[in-house]
Amino acid sequence: MQFAGLVVVGIIMLVFLGVQGLKLQFFFGVIIPYLALVVFCLGLIGRVVKWGRSPVPFSIPTVHGQQKSLPWIKASAIDSPVTTAGVVARLALEVLFFRSLFKNVKAELGEGRRLTFTWEKWLWLAGLLFHWSFLVVIFRHLRFFTEPVPAVVHSLGSLDGFFQVGLQAFFITDLIILATVLYLLLRRVCIPQMRYISLPADYFPLFVIFGIALSGISMRYFFKVDIAAVKKLAMGLVTFKPVLPEGIGVIFYIHLFLVCVLFAYFPFSKLMHMAGIFMAPTRNLANDSRARRHVNPWNYPVKVHTYADYEAEFGRKMEEAGLPVENSQAKVS
Ligand code: HEM
Repeated sequence: MQFAGLVVVGIIMLVFLGVQGLKLQFFFGVIIPYLALVVFCLGLIGRVVKWGRSPVPFSIPTVHGQQKSLPWIKASAIDSPVTTAGVVARLALEVLFFRSLFKNVKAELGEGRRLTFTWEKWLWLAGLLFHWSFLVVIFRHLRFFTEPVPAVVHSLGSLDGFFQVGLQAFFITDLIILATVLYLLLRRVCIPQMRYISLPADYFPLFVIFGIALSGISMRYFFKVDIAAVKKLAMGLVTFKPVLPEGIGVIFYIHLFLVCVLFAYFPFSKLMHMAGIFMAPTRNLANDSRARRHVNPWNYPVKVHTYADYEAEFGRKMEEAGLPVENSQAKVS
């Protein structure tokens, strides 16, 4: 944990020195975002293509319900999908509502060493709220990258900023993203079993996302930056006519650099679960092994010697030895 935390603090200091001291605004505001985008796109495509090209030797959907079999046995259309529609429904529920995490239970040794299982919903709730608020925050950011800004972005902003604090709208997703990242972090730090299995690769993305959210929130509510200038820079980036407006505070460059680090790191990290869930044979295959034969694509043509061939070759000898044969050679010849 300390290592991941120090790396993120180091990154923030690097930007601070680069922008305040060395005036490297163009490097951090233009070159780094393009570099991060290229690494993100190439890395993501590369991994998805690699996964896509891997053969699926077995039909291995993981299911939570009765497979379709005999007509009088009730099958579970979504929990053990047999059609493509069932697979799509199951995946959609998983991606949108984290359904399998909802089934999470906690196992504990109670009094008299009795093993008890209890429902554990906090991880599901925090995970779901974290991902949804992340999506809403990114979607709201489209106001920087589009001109004119689509009405739906404005509407979402008004809905999210329903609570007004003073003259400024307070985005509820800002609070949720910060609180849930903190929960996910503290869960790894405070639960001994979780701390034991956690690696720097588990802490690093949480620290980076926490840094992004904290710097964004600071920019919005405390150390204001020139939003018109940020929009000019963002529009320059998306139209591939980069400009570098004056007077954007260093906090913005910290925010942007952390975003770039997250994007460049993404394809090489566990964050790839975003794409991986769609590529997982445990999730994207129908459980139809009783109805359809799954052929291993690794199978290569094998020269076989069938029993019919065997009898054709040795049938006469077998008959002479008094062994039973299916096709009598006497009849054949
Ligand atoms: C992973 C992507 C990003 C995340 C998670 C993120 C997160 C946040 C959060 C939580 C805030 C607080 C206020 C709000 O919710 O609007 C914020 C504000 C802000 N972000 Fe980001 N951000 C991301 C990418 C970017 C990018 C690429 C830019 C570059 C234009 C940017 C520029 C800003 C600015 C200027 C603010 C201040 C907004 C204001 O004062 O109203 N962010 N960000």
